[in-house]
Amino acid sequence: MGDLSGKVAIVTGASTLIGAKIVDALKGAGAEVMMADIAEEDGARIAGELGDGVLFKTTDVSDDAAIDACIAETQSAFGGVDILVNVAATYLDEGPQTSREDFLTGLNVNLVGGFIFAQKLHSEFVKRGGGAIINTASISGKVAQPGRMVYAVSKAGILHMTHCLSAAWAKDGIRVNSVSPGWTWSNVISMLSGENKDQASKVAAITHPMGRIGEPEEVANAVAFLASDKASFISGADIPVDGGYSAIGPERLDDMVPMLQGS
Ligand SMILES: NC(=O)c1ccc[n+]([C@@H]2O[C@H](COP(=O)([O-])OP(=O)(O)OC[C@H]3O[C@@H](n4cnc5c(N)ncnc54)[C@H](O)[C@@H]3O)[C@@H](O)[C@H]2O)c1
Repeated sequence: MGDLSGKVAIVTGASTLIGAKIVDALKGAGAEVMMADIAEEDGARIAGELGDGVLFKTTDVSDDAAIDACIAETQSAFGGVDILVNVAATYLDEGPQTSREDFLTGLNVNLVGGFIFAQKLHSEFVKRGGGAIINTASISGKVAQPGRMVYAVSKAGILHMTHCLSAAWAKDGIRVNSVSPGWTWSNVISMLSGENKDQASKVAAITHPMGRIGEPEEVANAVAFLASDKASFISGADIPVDGGYSAIGPERLDDMVPMLQGS
């Protein structure tokens, strides 16, 4: 893992499992980190647990003034910003029944919020001679999952926003990449499975060739790598952290060839 000593990061959506592990990994590599999230109580608790060099700022990524305040507080506490990790997301989604209002809300939080955060940090990164942006996309941005609409579309948008920003800002020494987690042990999956990780892994094994659910630390490790100089010639890229999910299609030759042969 690369050395992030002397670097300052802002991590949005930092108040739950995946975001908190990303903060932990960046801090572990030597960075100072501002956690930005609307979940105040959990955010403040996690920042307290992680200790020196980690602060929490209540920040709604759909509110421009809140983003400005978060950046200003980070600059004043840590002297600048070098890394932005966009994790904040809403799962608000009614599939094909999603209303216009919910569609716009979902896009605003998941896609536009991260974009505006990056836009507002551009001059800061230029001033500091470069920067790294890591966006959190998803397997949901690459294939359709029946039942999902705005979440999936927002994640597909994040993948292409990553391409567009990397093309626009490469000349400024700003690298823009994404990670695409598969099913990852997180608040949502813990809740859905009744906190049963074995059960979650058993179900994940159906679509994840590695036969299990991912750990939040595994997403965090990919983010910390992309944030570091070890990824110095990587921009506009996506790292799938999905146990092989995106490498396979629906075809199961092992089941289908016997069917073809009439057995
Ligand atoms: N859990 C998975 O299996 C999985 C799979 C693929 C991708 N992801 C992605 O990983 C990231 C974390 O997912 P998670 O499952 O831990 O989700 P989560 O809901 O537990 O965390 C999302 C965080 O974003 C915050 N947030 C929501 N709206 C916000 C706003 N307007 N402003 C600021 N913060 C806001 C929430 O308070 C929360 O802390 C998301 O980007 C998600 O899309 C998760």
